[in-house]
Amino acid sequence: MEQKFQSPFPRQRVKGIRKIILVGSGKGGVGKSTVAVNLALALSYLGNEVGFLDADIYGPSAPTLLGLKGERISANENNKLIPIGRYGLKVVSIGFMLPSEDTPLIWRGPMLLKAVSQMLFDTDWGILDYLVVDLPPGTGDVQLTLAQTTIIDGAIVVTTPQDLSLVDVKKAVNMFKRVEVPILGVVENMAYFICPDSKKKYYIFGKGKTLEFARTYNLKVLGSIPIDPRIAEGGDLGLPIVVEEPESEVAKAFINIAKLIDKGKD
Ligand SMILES: Nc1ncnc2c1ncn2[C@@H]1O[C@H](COP(=O)(O)OP(=O)(O)O)[C@@H](O)[C@H]1O
Ligand SMILES: [Mg+2]
Repeated sequence: MEQKFQSPFPRQRVKGIRKIILVGSGKGGVGKSTVAVNLALALSYLGNEVGFLDADIYGPSAPTLLGLKGERISANENNKLIPIGRYGLKVVSIGFMLPSEDTPLIWRGPMLLKAVSQMLFDTDWGILDYLVVDLPPGTGDVQLTLAQTTIIDGAIVVTTPQDLSLVDVKKAVNMFKRVEVPILGVVENMAYFICPDSKKKYYIFGKGKTLEFARTYNLKVLGSIPIDPRIAEGGDLGLPIVVEEPESEVAKAFINIAKLIDKGKD
């Protein structure tokens, strides 16, 4: 018999935040953090107040992707964390609390979960239209704890068009369904590459698989992001493409996805 998810706790809203959007994937390395950061920036570009919670406690990437390496977070007089401002986003990451970039996190599970919950509930977010949450890969405790304790408005799943990635994404989709988090749709990353010389489109990881998967699961494909060296370079330098080159095709793809998400807002 299908095991139905039942939250033992009343799920709470986070004060001041209108919508919480989770960005998840099955696998690591599919570009989840890159998509999450650029999507948050695209929502901000459309005029929203946006926060970014880096909940990938095992591999926080917000400090790098947003050019915030070495930043330290502090608390206000009410013991609330003060998010770090960057490119119009309010950012919180466990990376701002570790002694250095190379320090491994050696906490046990319960402490990690407490940290995520504190980053969410004990931060002075102010008033936000959206909080974009970059989840750790997979279907682990962090995802479940968030869904158990918080009212989540929607999840986006990021995949590359490969069977290897899609197999794991199916698990993520099933998890979100099980815990009753509405899935807004799929973002296909590294969908194709346009050769700068010939302008020809190459489907390096295959073509059509994401759409086929989305149809099977009755999900929307919100958009496809090409492989672009500027995404990788900008990521390493802390200069996200939506900020650096908002007129580029890639940035426009992110902005279009943000518009689809934003359209649903009341
Ligand atoms: N569309 C893309 N084109 C080129 N490089 C990309 C693209 N998406 C992600 N990358 C690169 O792939 C690597 C993994 O991305 P990341 O966002 O850290 O993945 P995840 O969060 O899923 O582990 C990074 O080096 C990133 O710059
Ligand atoms: Mg990541």
